[in-house]
Amino acid sequence: MAKTAFVTGGAGGIGQAICKCLADAGHKVAACYIAPEKDSALQWQAESKAQGNDYYLVEGDVSSFESAQSMVQQIEKDVAPIDILVNCAGITKDTTFKKMKEEQWKSVIDINLNSVFNVTKQVLDGMLERQYGRIVCISSLNGQKGQFGQSNYSASKSGMHGFAMSLAQEVASKGITVNSVSPGYIGTKMVMAIPQKVRDSIVAQIPVGRLGTPEEIGAVVAFLASDDAGFITGSNIAINGGQHTQF
Ligand code: CAA
Repeated sequence: MAKTAFVTGGAGGIGQAICKCLADAGHKVAACYIAPEKDSALQWQAESKAQGNDYYLVEGDVSSFESAQSMVQQIEKDVAPIDILVNCAGITKDTTFKKMKEEQWKSVIDINLNSVFNVTKQVLDGMLERQYGRIVCISSLNGQKGQFGQSNYSASKSGMHGFAMSLAQEVASKGITVNSVSPGYIGTKMVMAIPQKVRDSIVAQIPVGRLGTPEEIGAVVAFLASDDAGFITGSNIAINGGQHTQF
């Protein structure tokens, strides 16, 4: 059945593919972008509309509780109450811990992890009232295994999964599932920003022999958001081309 989805960071690399997969599954999709990315977000919205996907866009900053509240209020007024939340907004500020500045730590934790509190808090009461919800957190391979130069990012991404496992237990009996997805290295701007030599050495460690595609993440998110996935909760789905396998 068609639902309403909110994808934070929906105008970004993996976010755009998640929006498309959710729209292809028949859902109404809202996405948010931050002010400096307004032009590219509006361009993506126009291109998507020409291809038949009419996304609702809202500007705001998920690292601010007030901004998250105002974005969700706008979506619920203009579109419909949110049934599916995808916490996808995220950044990297890679550097070794020895060189890391307080700002590099705090901004990554604020945008990747505190955002999950800020946004989920706005939608959970409505999901509880309606006894239905799907929450998917876009975590990372590097939250599972750690990564040289990413103590801030890995901490934030492990935190997202800790959150998912705990909230899943609190709301399982109310028709709400909470899961995380852990993409490995996907061919987005974020990964292309890694110095080529380092990136080449990373691709050499991927058994599938290539970077993943955003659509390969979007498809799994759309499945977790579907009614068919009602028995999957508190789980993490790894999508990394075999780079990190665990039971
Ligand atoms: N393991 C062990 N040692 C390493 C290493 C590694 N993986 N990478 C680098 N080193 C060593 C280098 O050999 C070098 O050693 P020497 O000083 O003895 O020569 C030393 O560490 C410093 O390395 P750099 O010159 O690379 O240091 P830097 O400060 O210039 O750069 C860095 C550090 C920014 C972290 C850079 O290595 C880098 O960009 N690494 C990639 C990090 C990464 O994978 N980010 C993922 C981004 S995409 C993403 O996050 C999406 C997702 O979810 C998967």
